[in-house]
Amino acid sequence: MNTPLALTPWPMRVQAGDGQFVFTPTTCLVADAAAAPTAETLAAQLRLRTGMPLPRPDQRPASGAVVLALNPQLAHLGAEGYRLVVTATAVDLQAPTAAGLFWATQTLYQLLPAAAGAAGAGVAIPAVIIEDQPRFGWRGLMLDTGHDYQHLSFIYRFIDLMVLHKFNRLHWHITDLGTWPLEIDGYPRLQDPCTLGTRRRGTPPRGVKPGRYTHAQVREVVAYAAARHVTVVPEIDMPGHSAPALMAYPEFDCPVPHRTWEWERWEYCVGQERTYDFLHAVLSQVMALFPSPYIHIGGDECPKDHWRLCPVCQARRQAEGLADEDELQSWFVRRIERFLNAHGRRLIGWDEILEGGLAPDATVMSWRGVGGGIAAAQAGHDVVMAPTSHTYFDYPETTTSVAKVYQFEPVPAELSAAQARHILGAQAQMWTDNHPTEAEIERLVYPRACALAEVVWSPAAARDADRFAACLAAHAQRLAALGLDITGA
Ligand code: ACM
Ligand code: ZN
Repeated sequence: MNTPLALTPWPMRVQAGDGQFVFTPTTCLVADAAAAPTAETLAAQLRLRTGMPLPRPDQRPASGAVVLALNPQLAHLGAEGYRLVVTATAVDLQAPTAAGLFWATQTLYQLLPAAAGAAGAGVAIPAVIIEDQPRFGWRGLMLDTGHDYQHLSFIYRFIDLMVLHKFNRLHWHITDLGTWPLEIDGYPRLQDPCTLGTRRRGTPPRGVKPGRYTHAQVREVVAYAAARHVTVVPEIDMPGHSAPALMAYPEFDCPVPHRTWEWERWEYCVGQERTYDFLHAVLSQVMALFPSPYIHIGGDECPKDHWRLCPVCQARRQAEGLADEDELQSWFVRRIERFLNAHGRRLIGWDEILEGGLAPDATVMSWRGVGGGIAAAQAGHDVVMAPTSHTYFDYPETTTSVAKVYQFEPVPAELSAAQARHILGAQAQMWTDNHPTEAEIERLVYPRACALAEVVWSPAAARDADRFAACLAAHAQRLAALGLDITGA
């Protein structure tokens, strides 16, 4: 192919055809009943980009149709694969699953001219046969609303941009040491803007934008994502990174004088039962809101300072026969895991959950390099790679360039083939400790997320930096049409 198609992530197999399919006022869109929701989303996108009415007849006409159909005979393409065939007379999207069909529509969207241009009769896409399936099942972006609140409109747009790049996991890091925006029935002070002013404890981080997400709002976000085959994986960080909850409800704190008022160094008292009453209530509500099989419980950077001084934590440690505070954290994580498992969910946490012994069914998110992921996979646990070295998109471009992200390999060479199967995939992290604006967040995430999309979707052997650079140059026009300027990266 002389001019590469502006596709990112690049598909598994691409075979250029002859000619092109031209959208006209009579071009129609035909879909199986099972494909109806995806067809509606596609019709809206195509109407916007082509200016054509795209009628929806029941029957496929002899020519001039975009056709979506589930096809069980394509089962070999897996849970998210698809086939897209464009000829001069038709555009056929087929997949064994609704998810595959949805990803096919995103590829079709990327076949449209990248430049915004004037919509109207004559908009064309090149003839091509594409067979595609992702390399990894976990293709994620993490958004942090625990340091700074993000508006719902921003979160919806974040999902739209994700699916354009075939990401399928929105890891929503809801709570952290800046703010707890998720409404929890029975605990109204979590979002009380007066909490900081009235309690006058501690040194809150500066510049935090607080806010609140209601249950109804969260349900709408989750449904919007699900309609686009994105699972929202919620994270409630514990036992560290929990200062807003402890500010609002000091009874869940260790009953000892604070050694430091830095919020980073606060943790739940894991010795006392009422802490579990609170966390179980929170997690029960989180499970009711988020159908995700995985619930992320954080586990990162817990200082454990107060546990060492706390008579309740120490009594618990001794009663459970635990050697040290690492084992105490491990005991805490196992207890939370039992609660999640009893409700049919699985626990995922940052790689600190390895310290003191990994909970039996836990999945590890490896962030302090890939070492934690290697250790977990070797021990037979599932892993999501999220190392600071390549996937922290809050870091500046000078530290983590697009080219560096593009070179990331989620499966370390140390792993055997059987161990490598535990690598579920990889994801990027967008932390908001530095309080970027929403526009700045998008500019930090893109175009690096385009590079990561290829890492997690495209076959490893298809990676080609020159082809990617050419695609990205054209894709930049597509993103510009969506109001995102990635030039100058
Ligand atoms: C992390 O960056 N604390 C997971
Ligand atoms: Zn304690």
